[in-house]
Amino acid sequence: MQDTPDTLTDLHHPCVRSCVEGDRRECHYIFTVEWYRSLSLECGDCPFNHTHCASHHCVFADGVQRPLVTVNRRLPGPFIHVCQWDEVVVNVENDLHLDSTSIHWHGIHQRGTPYMDGVPFLTQCPILPGTTFRYRFVADEPGTHYWHSHSGFQRTDGMFGALVVHQVPASDPHVTLYDTDDPKHTLVLTDWLNGLSFHKFINLHSAQDQDKPHTLLINGRGRFLTHKRGNEEATTPLHEVTVKAGKRHRFRTLSNSIRNCPIVISVDNHTLLVIAADGHPIQPITVDSLTIYGGERWDFVLTANQEQGTYWIKFQGLMHCGTRHKAAYQLAVLRYEGTEGVPDTRAPTSYHTTIREGFQLNTLDNAPGDGTFLTAAEMRSVTPTKEDISRHPDHTFWLNFNFYATKNPPQVMVHINGISFKLPSAPPLYQPNVDTSIFCNETSRKNCDEGFCHCPHVLTVKQDSLVEVVLVDESFVNHPFHLHGHSFYVIGMGQFGPGITKTKVQELDASGQVNRNFEHAPLKDTVTVPSGGYTVLRFLASNPGYWLFHCHLTFHVEMGMAMVFYVAGNHAAPPPPDDLPRCGLSGIDAL
Ligand code: C2O
Ligand code: CU
Repeated sequence: MQDTPDTLTDLHHPCVRSCVEGDRRECHYIFTVEWYRSLSLECGDCPFNHTHCASHHCVFADGVQRPLVTVNRRLPGPFIHVCQWDEVVVNVENDLHLDSTSIHWHGIHQRGTPYMDGVPFLTQCPILPGTTFRYRFVADEPGTHYWHSHSGFQRTDGMFGALVVHQVPASDPHVTLYDTDDPKHTLVLTDWLNGLSFHKFINLHSAQDQDKPHTLLINGRGRFLTHKRGNEEATTPLHEVTVKAGKRHRFRTLSNSIRNCPIVISVDNHTLLVIAADGHPIQPITVDSLTIYGGERWDFVLTANQEQGTYWIKFQGLMHCGTRHKAAYQLAVLRYEGTEGVPDTRAPTSYHTTIREGFQLNTLDNAPGDGTFLTAAEMRSVTPTKEDISRHPDHTFWLNFNFYATKNPPQVMVHINGISFKLPSAPPLYQPNVDTSIFCNETSRKNCDEGFCHCPHVLTVKQDSLVEVVLVDESFVNHPFHLHGHSFYVIGMGQFGPGITKTKVQELDASGQVNRNFEHAPLKDTVTVPSGGYTVLRFLASNPGYWLFHCHLTFHVEMGMAMVFYVAGNHAAPPPPDDLPRCGLSGIDAL
């Protein structure tokens, strides 16, 4: 199935254009946030009649009926394609009945506008039901990005979409590698649950119920539940992508994330030439498949050089989406222009056939060195490392994390350096009445019980200092970490196995066994930490503000797997507009 009236509206937005030097526009959008559901009345006779599935406001997802939180009654929400330096203006109308909302512009650095970063109680007040908040920011970072609610579970119930910042051709080092860069070649991936995420979360949190995602959605579409009516059987339509024979097409992909569900993407009969990660150009790598973790974005070029026809684009879920659980996978159709039908004879009928064997990039849970696959730490950036990141860092933070159980109430939580994150009750960024004495870190813990603490974990660094972060996984589960406000260099990654601790990695580092690469180190803003291993990052803290740093799996964030870097400005930060809503109670910010 192809374009719907809604995607056509997005494609006709005046900001969707070829970027030209000096043509800077203001791009306006209205986002109405509502409770909605899949297979609503708007869907008519979908899935029995696929024309009905394409109706305005019909969200059919994987054929399972369930409640959703949507923007403009769409799944995913509207896509935004703009040019670098455009000003993006989005009116977010909260029409949810009871819940507040927010939107984070994942990959945009918000230089000079940190209060537009969309983290409730950190960079803004939550957008209350019945109110509208206007986001206004400059699309400073070129590349494939993503917008999503940063409130509770909304992004895992449907409130997310693509945000792509295009460039003038001359400023893209890879412009000669592709012929087309079509917004229709953006693939928005997510793992998907058969009911509200919050229900699944309380079941897990309070009853240890292990209900995992049953499928994946590609641009909100997929095939899972077979509907039956008399002798008729029908499934919902798959997403389709059309390519021109002989042309080299740039694809842009991103993954939302609910549970721990890395997704492996591959295309039958075609290799992928990977050219960018999280918006940053890398030295091109030809691969057979690519693993995408929650919060990551990857761009690749697909050359339509095979026999004219249709081919499967395959998506295989791992970990919580893997064979130990519900073996979640999905398909989409790659169609050469002018061909009909679906790739029937090669139809994968099971999870196991939804991968193309061969060389893989960003492999799950592996350390560099094997040579039969490549990790994110082994990619090389196109340009030499800009800043001097090899000098002695001004700050080194060792962060270990793991799950732990509390007795009263009996719940599973996650800590970073012994602290489960708790937000302040008002945004410290622009509300001076916030009591910052409640902020905590490893040496100033607050609100502790049974050895673990619950407080706003804030690490302060001065503007322009060089920060090194060593993430040590003691949980033996692979987690993708995302930093707001900056990109970081991935300079090291390694794996030791079960029983590894921060102290042990520190000892290994002291004896020179933790390698750091500074040459053409890849820039990213989301990176995985191999289980029982470590990842080393460095970034220049050039952007003043309060920047969240967290695991991008919603269930883990909600269990406390987050913290904040406060980059204290040397110079007076631009004052926030004085009409920003205020919230919280001054002086009684007690924990
Ligand atoms: Cu896309 Cu704070 O995350
Ligand atoms: Cu996690």
